Amino acid sequence: MPNTQTLEISALFSDSSGDYVRVCKHIVDVLNEESGFVALGYPAMAEQHQRAGRLTKFFNFANDVKLSMATTQYQPANRNRYRGYYPAPEIRGFSDKERLDIGPEPGLMAPNLEGSEILSESNPWPSTEPQAGWRLDSLQYFDDLREIAVALLDAIACGLNLERRDTDDLCRGRNGTLRLLNYLPQSPKNLYSNNVPEIVDKTNRWITGIEHVDTTTLTLLWQTYPGLQIKGRDDVWRDVVPPEGGLSIHCGDLFTKLTSGVINGSIHRVLGDGTHRTSVGMFLEPDWATVIRPPNVDEGLSYAEHLLGVFSTRKKQARRY
Ligand SMILES: [Fe+2]
Repeated sequence: MPNTQTLEISALFSDSSGDYVRVCKHIVDVLNEESGFVALGYPAMAEQHQRAGRLTKFFNFANDVKLSMATTQYQPANRNRYRGYYPAPEIRGFSDKERLDIGPEPGLMAPNLEGSEILSESNPWPSTEPQAGWRLDSLQYFDDLREIAVALLDAIACGLNLERRDTDDLCRGRNGTLRLLNYLPQSPKNLYSNNVPEIVDKTNRWITGIEHVDTTTLTLLWQTYPGLQIKGRDDVWRDVVPPEGGLSIHCGDLFTKLTSGVINGSIHRVLGDGTHRTSVGMFLEPDWATVIRPPNVDEGLSYAEHLLGVFSTRKKQARRY
């Protein structure tokens, strides 16, 4: 299987570089054909790489600490239903992972819609830190990666000659989600305990994250071990194998109409081979009231309406991955 391309994006952050437009057009060409790439050369890459590693120390906490931040679904005494900790299933299987979702701080005002209170939730935090400065690190990483995502969206607008106001609406607020993910190591005894893994490649890797398109504007992902794959326009899956500090970049479902199909929302999935893997994703999202045009929906609607619709569909479909 081929790998995604690696692009050096430092020109996007340097006023003096004459390379800005060339890099913008190259990003658009790669997204058009391959739907994603690995970015290197963003500001303070080495420090950000260290910081992302520190954030995943959260998963070293004892279960009772993590569960103190779990959503109501897993810990009925807690009030948070959206931001917070999502544990792995108690019966271990082949695709088990735990995660922590962190939103903007302070939380954003929720629009007046049924069920929308969850969108203005504040973040739960642990009473102690897994490492000194962890909470501040989390918020700093949120802000810094969000800025990189906005710079990438600006670059895509430039590369496509889009009106900046069309993309500005999608990113100029504060919304987003920082997601820490811990794909637990899988021992052969757990492998078939609650379902049969779907083996999909010659090296016997199996699906641990089913293919989907993110409900975002843009997604940036730091990761400690390969497994993420992105499907290009040619229907070929490409492995994402970032060098140290590299961030994989893929597009959310808002791109298809925005770019008249020049760039589609990236179809991606995660494969596993039993090895422990952690990742940290930054999902760049419009503020709740922003009117968006998702695929398969005829009229514009607010991002809050769109997301609440997605949540309700997922609840009905409740899936294993
Ligand atoms: Fe995703």
